[in-house]
Amino acid sequence: MTLQEEIASIRQEIEQKSLTTATLAEEFRLSYLSRKGIVPALFERFKEVAPESRKDVGRELNILKQLAEGKFKEAKEATESAISESSVDFDASAPGIPFPVGSRHPLRIVANELYEVFSRIGFTIAEGPEIEDEWHNFSALNFPEEHPARDMQDTFFIRSNPDIALRTHTSSVQVRMMESKKPPIRMIMPGRVYRNEAISARAHCFFHQVEGLYIDKKVSFADLKQTMLYFSKELFGSDTKIRLRPSYFPFTEPSAEMDISCTVCKGKGCNICKYTGWVEILGCGMVHPTVLTNNGIDPQEYSGFAFGMGIERIAILKYQVKDLRLFSQNDVRFLKQFSVQ
Ligand code: DAH
Repeated sequence: MTLQEEIASIRQEIEQKSLTTATLAEEFRLSYLSRKGIVPALFERFKEVAPESRKDVGRELNILKQLAEGKFKEAKEATESAISESSVDFDASAPGIPFPVGSRHPLRIVANELYEVFSRIGFTIAEGPEIEDEWHNFSALNFPEEHPARDMQDTFFIRSNPDIALRTHTSSVQVRMMESKKPPIRMIMPGRVYRNEAISARAHCFFHQVEGLYIDKKVSFADLKQTMLYFSKELFGSDTKIRLRPSYFPFTEPSAEMDISCTVCKGKGCNICKYTGWVEILGCGMVHPTVLTNNGIDPQEYSGFAFGMGIERIAILKYQVKDLRLFSQNDVRFLKQFSVQ
């Protein structure tokens, strides 16, 4: 066989090879392309070629070499990516690679629980703006002109317009609901509130509240008390007791502060309840007739109750968190302790 005939036959041979596995590709490389392989051996014989045929034979040799190299490269790439995709040692019974999921923020867990508990007795949810005017945050709620809460000391006012402030409580949303809806109104209103306080373990310049409002014909203090008892038992457990202490808020009359029996010591006395057996969780009362009138609701026809509580406070009780700042620091070591709900 002349060298040219041999080149043609090897070329045919290579073209017909199918290198489907890494082993076949490697065998191919060894027999055709390695130093002692078939293709280099053909190059060795190039010296035998008569000068007039050298140009043609040389070209054919190069084409053959490129063909062999291309074939090997292609097979190698294909088998390597197949290995990484499927894998030779695939074990279908092996446990899966865990997918890391986040946890819910404790304030979100508490807020969701509150929504659930109140939605079961017909309350709906609404939100209002965090930047408020004096009317919605104070005046409509019957705060007298000289009330200390209106002071710069307690409230963040907008410098260029002292009529505008960051709301100091979610009671401002009560006003927005009363002015935009007709009774019966049965709503809870969650949100962030701001106060001009130095930040410490027990105080922060922002926190979260949930406001509640119920207005209808013949709503009484007994309805308020029973609603508070229902929600406390649902949230803190069926053996929870409540206690209402007379208090003062400009927007309710009568007003009360509500304590629940300490969830930690069950009323026996511990450092959470400061050995009293009770912890304060909210303010409440019957909506003041002036507040109803201010918002276009006739106090002769309608009455209602309202309540407001701090979400952080409830989360602190539920999870015994020692420092309020933890809720807003986004420290994963703190956050990941709360379950996904
Ligand atoms: N707004 C009050 C506060 O921030 C809480 C509050 C008390 C809300 C009594 C009410 C209420 O609706 O009736 O301290």
